[in-house]
Amino acid sequence: MSLDETAQPIDPQTLAPLDTVTGLEPEWWRTAVIYQIYPRSFADSDGDGIGDLPGITRRLDSLADLGVDAIWLSPFFTSPQKDAGYDVADYCDVDPLFGTLADFDILRQKATDLGLRVIVDIVPNHTSSAHPWFEAALVDGPGSEARSHYLFRDGRGDRGELPPNNWQSVFGGDAWTRITEADGTPGQWYLHLFDSSQPDLDWNDEWVREQFLSVLRFWLDRGVDGFRVDVAHGMIKRPGLPDYTPPADAGSMGGGQEAAEPPPYWAQDGVHEIYRSWRTVLDSYPGDRILVAEAWVDPLSKLANWVRPDEMHQAFNFSYLESGWKASSIRRVIDDSLEVFASVGAPSTWVLSNHDVVRHASRLGLTVENPQGAGIGPKSKGLPDRAIGLARARAASAVMLALPGSAYLYQGEELGLPEAIDLPDEARQDPTWFRTEGARYGRDGCRVPLPWEAASPAFGFNTTGESWLPQPSDWAAYARDTETGDPSSTLELYRLALDTRSRFNLGAGSIEWLTGYGPEVVAFRNGDVTVIANTGAVPVELPVAEELLSTVPLDGAALPGDATVWLRA
Ligand code: GLC
Repeated sequence: MSLDETAQPIDPQTLAPLDTVTGLEPEWWRTAVIYQIYPRSFADSDGDGIGDLPGITRRLDSLADLGVDAIWLSPFFTSPQKDAGYDVADYCDVDPLFGTLADFDILRQKATDLGLRVIVDIVPNHTSSAHPWFEAALVDGPGSEARSHYLFRDGRGDRGELPPNNWQSVFGGDAWTRITEADGTPGQWYLHLFDSSQPDLDWNDEWVREQFLSVLRFWLDRGVDGFRVDVAHGMIKRPGLPDYTPPADAGSMGGGQEAAEPPPYWAQDGVHEIYRSWRTVLDSYPGDRILVAEAWVDPLSKLANWVRPDEMHQAFNFSYLESGWKASSIRRVIDDSLEVFASVGAPSTWVLSNHDVVRHASRLGLTVENPQGAGIGPKSKGLPDRAIGLARARAASAVMLALPGSAYLYQGEELGLPEAIDLPDEARQDPTWFRTEGARYGRDGCRVPLPWEAASPAFGFNTTGESWLPQPSDWAAYARDTETGDPSSTLELYRLALDTRSRFNLGAGSIEWLTGYGPEVVAFRNGDVTVIANTGAVPVELPVAEELLSTVPLDGAALPGDATVWLRA
């Protein structure tokens, strides 16, 4: 195969679907590639070892250059950082660790100048225990208004010494903590589905609802293009808070459970009216502002309820993330996704990595099951071969980026970064690690600061060499400057994929399955592009056609295992 140099580039505008409301411009988010920035680990301007907003601003050109459409910033709000910022003490300010509101405004302006949309994270299921609302609830007694914003309950047992029910925290251990009342006596218990520093709000409380409408407006007024909604399946709990024991195969966030009746703390119907009210607020602003749900809900047909026309715009497709490197599973989840999301008029999304899961360059090479949240470390079973993991990750990303809809990238996957497995125990910071006393490694391994420059301190993350999690010593090979311009690098593969995706308008396309390649092959046509991915070991003969992209060098006609090719056909 050779590059056809006479091929005419396609003008995306001639193929883009029209906005259903205005009939003019396409809605950007239906086809967007959205890049997740984890601020602690992206770029550090002040050298304290923790990334910050000015660091992001300084490095933003590299993302425009990569070819993404938008960025999503994980939390940078005021927070004691017990759960890396997902424990918010002030929803409308920037933590000094990350900078100031003025730094945010500068970042947003630079993003706009570069043509990048900006999505921020909102964490409504719980606050930090350092939030003034919770501090007031501790001071004011049982039955007080301040306490009614959270889920305080009396304990069971003769003296209230037992938790109100048997629920377990996502991070391990009981989901309840008993407080000491202001007068020094043992008191009520409060619910925390996550760490004890993250008390759950009571979303049946009208006051709580109103506070968050103001938070939405605060950021919309500052010009954000949308919100990623944290734990968007958890805010309403079943009345009475009944005991519940999850099935053994349940992921910590609720994935893997297709039971008719959801757990009493996940996927309750009451969440939907909250999102309808949020949608009304977003729709009252000019431009296309979006809500994207982090909702670990199975099956996909149920998840589609989060993106009905008057609710959110998108939901992360964790079924896709969890489908592994198996052709039959990939085909099934693509079919299901396109069907169920289309049934409610929403685009499908696709995602392979984020800050809560083992990076897919390692995950796809694991030889044993690894439930979400468990993480991997030196003592884990079935650790991946790095080369196999990376080959599969490149091949899987090349499938994902050819699919119609919107794709999410997690910082570092464009460098082919593996999970950092050998972090020393004393460096680990995920509450999961502490709450399970080391039984689960948790998520630190996917959160290690990015390598930018092979020869600089901390690989260019900053100039001092400090790093809140230690970077593996061999990460020079993954540094952005090492990979830039090297056609065999993962960075150049992503850049080519994003450019080709945009030239052929794949995000707005549709899938036609191609048969005859065998059970271990995923093969489809999206418009003028044929995609063939070989998940097996037997090489696959390819049709003669112009090669647009390949995750391995193809000198003959056969596609080896763990590889994907895009052909013009
Ligand atoms: C979400 C976040 C995760 C966080 C949890 C609690 O799942 O992605 O990082 O720990 O919510 O806020």
